[in-house]
This record gives sequence, structure tokens and C-alpha cells, in this order.
Amino acid sequence: MAAIVALLLCSLILIFSIGSSMVHALTSNYYDQTCPQAESTITNVVKKAIIEDKRVPAALLRMHFHDCFIRGCDASVLLDSVGQNSAEKDGPPNVSLHAFYVIDNAKEAVEAICPGVVSCADILAMSARDVVALSGGPSWEVPKGRKDGRISNANESLQLPGPTFNFSQLLQSFSHRGLSGADLVALSGGHTLGFSHCSSFQNRIHNFDATHDVDPSLNPTFAASLRSVCPANNKAKNAGSNLDSTSTAFDNTYYKLLIQGKSLFSSDQALMSTSKTKELVSKFAASEQAFRVAFVKSMIKMSSLTGGQEVRLDCRKVR
Ligand code: HEM
Ligand SMILES: *[C@@H]1O[C@H](CO)[C@@H](O)[C@H](O)[C@H]1NC(C)=O
Ligand SMILES: *[C@@H]1O[C@H](CO)[C@@H](O)[C@H](O)[C@H]1NC(C)=O
Ligand SMILES: *[C@@H]1O[C@H](CO)[C@@H](O)[C@H](O)[C@H]1NC(C)=O
Repeated sequence: MAAIVALLLCSLILIFSIGSSMVHALTSNYYDQTCPQAESTITNVVKKAIIEDKRVPAALLRMHFHDCFIRGCDASVLLDSVGQNSAEKDGPPNVSLHAFYVIDNAKEAVEAICPGVVSCADILAMSARDVVALSGGPSWEVPKGRKDGRISNANESLQLPGPTFNFSQLLQSFSHRGLSGADLVALSGGHTLGFSHCSSFQNRIHNFDATHDVDPSLNPTFAASLRSVCPANNKAKNAGSNLDSTSTAFDNTYYKLLIQGKSLFSSDQALMSTSKTKELVSKFAASEQAFRVAFVKSMIKMSSLTGGQEVRLDCRKVR
């Protein structure tokens, strides 16, 4: 009898340990014993970087999204190209990736207090939370314990949803990663921060379709101003527009403008194309608080897509 109980217990323990090694459940207190100062150390580095450059919040939020959508949040976006292998950050839609140095600085500061403990994927996730909070948005506990991946391929950056995607393409991209239409609406609110190059919305302001030069869902005055910044044969590599009129404040202006036909991307406008998502857009435009609550919930969901195996020592290189 005792032997059977012991056997049962052993197999239960075995099942549990196999389970946890596969699932890697993330926890908010993951570094409480091993690196209690990780969180505040990272926040301090991020704060300093924002004082030097107001574009840092948008860059890090976008970087985290990009990371999570390719191979899970495993810091694959941070790896540099090596030899013949061209990394994600050198893939086609990389024009908007910048400020990698901030993550390098945060990693260096954390390595100085607890070497080899805190993953780059966690540092990026915490930084994304910090930039939102430091831009006037909500703050939240970031579940931690992500591991860093060993693979980064330029061709995989094409797995990101594109700005010309319609609603069904967007939903497919999100549901492929376990994210819903509601997550899509809330996370698109990340476009309350930052800047876009002309190339990302060129499709809406020139040669839109067989009958319209300009996307008819765009507000005409807004479209005209975009066309003056981004002419048909745009030669200015750095030309573009802020994503919303308050591009350094994390607020619900993005949704208010979207309702007025003043969003930049077809993928933003696509949120207005189904009744369910349109209702959410109206809700978030009317209530900043509703947006904040939904954004936090969806960010935690997106940033819990894990995929790595190790803790890197240098965020640009596999161990
Ligand atoms: C729904 C699918 C999405 C599409 C199609 C999309 C597309 C884009 C594009 C095309 C740009 C501009 C790139 C450029 O021309 O420089 C951009 C910028 C940005 N995106 Fe998204 N995005 C999506 C979702 C998200 C999500 C989920 C977040 C974060 C929660 C996010 C945050 C940002 C930020 C902050 C920027 C500005 C980056 C900067 O100024 O450095 N995006 N996005
Ligand atoms: C984007 O990719 C090009 C080459 O494909 C590379 O030269 C450039 O440095 C990359 N940009 C960033 C920000 O990594
Ligand atoms: C992407 O690039 C990697 C490395 O060069 C290669 O092994 C893989 O087959 C490529 N995948 C696709 C879909 O082209
Ligand atoms: C969305 O785009 C895809 C790919 O271009 C196309 O096959 C599909 O018909 C489009 N869906 C809608 C509803 O327009």
C-alpha cells in the first residue's frame, strides 16, 4: 500500500515538473530572491534615456510588440546579425526599430548587480511597461521568468502584421498568437505613441484603388496634410507623421482621431470595419479609463507569449 502511494506521489511530482518545464509559468515575484533590484534598476535606466530622447518610449513599446509576435517574447528582436545569418532587426519592416542601446544599458546595469540572472526578454517587457507608465499611461506588475531565444531570422520579420492589412488579416495574425479581436483593438492603442514613415501609409494617400486616389475613409483635410508631407514620389527618407496628435502622451487620443478618419494606417482604419471592434473603439474614445484597463490586460496577455531557453549575458548575442 505504502509503495503504491509512494509510486503515485512520484508520478505526480514527475508530471508536475515536466509540466512546469514546458509551460514556464511567469510570475510577478520571479526575481524577488535572485535580483530584487532588477525592476528599479531598469526603470532608472529607462527614465534617463527618455530625458535624453523623447522618442524612446515609442521605440521600446514597438520593440516589445515586434519581439512577442515573432517566436514569442524571447528577445529575438535584440540579436545582431552574425556572419551569413541576417537577424530580425535587419529584416524588411525594420525602419521603426531604434533605441536598442537603452536595452543594452539596462542589461549592463542589471548584470552589474546580479550577473546572468535577468533575461533580455524580461528586461524588454519591463521596459515596455515603464515607458507606458512614464508617458502618462497605466502601470502594472509584469509577470517575469521569460527566457531568451537563440534564433533570429530576418525573413521572419515578415510574420508581423502589416499596415495595409485588412480586418480579417489582422484578426488571423492575432488569433494565431492566442489574441482576440478585443486584444487587437486595445493593443492598437499603442499607436498613441510615436511616429511613422511615409512608406507605411503611402497606400492610403496615393493610388488607393481603381476609383480613388485617396482612401475615402480618411478625413480630406487630414489626407491633404499627409500628402503634402509625403508626395507620390517621396524622396525624403525620414519624412512621415506622428501616429497621433499627442505622440509623446499615452492617452486615448488615438481612438478619438480614428473615429474622425484621422488614423495613419489601413490597419488602424480596419478596426472600424466590424461592429464589435467599432464599438470598442467608441468605448475607448469615450473613456480613457476603459482603454487603460483593457490595454493592461491585453499587454499582459501579449507579453506572456514566451519562447526562449537561456539567459543571455549580452542582449545582442546568444550565449
Ligand atoms: C495591429 C497591428 C499593427 C500594425 C499593422 C502596426 C504597424 C505599425 C507601423 C507600420 C508602424 C510605423 C513604422 C514606420 O513606418 O516607422 C508602427 C509604429 C508603432 N507601433 Fe504599431 N502596429 C501594430 C500593432 C502595434 C502594437 C500591438 C503596438 C504596441 C502595443 C504597437 C506600437 C507601435 C508604436 C509605439 C509605434 C511607433 C514606433 C516609433 O515611433 O518608434 N503597434 N506600427
Ligand atoms: C534595417 O535593415 C538594414 C538592412 O537590411 C540595416 O542596414 C539597418 O541597420 C537596419 N536598421 C536597424 C534599425 O536595425
Ligand atoms: C528564413 O531564414 C532561415 C535562415 O536563413 C532559413 O533557415 C529559413 O528556411 C528561412 N525561412 C523562410 C520561410 O524562408
Ligand atoms: C483581406 O485581404 C485578403 C488578402 O489580400 C483578401 O483575400 C480578403 O478578401 C480581404 N478581406 C476582406 C474582407 O476584404
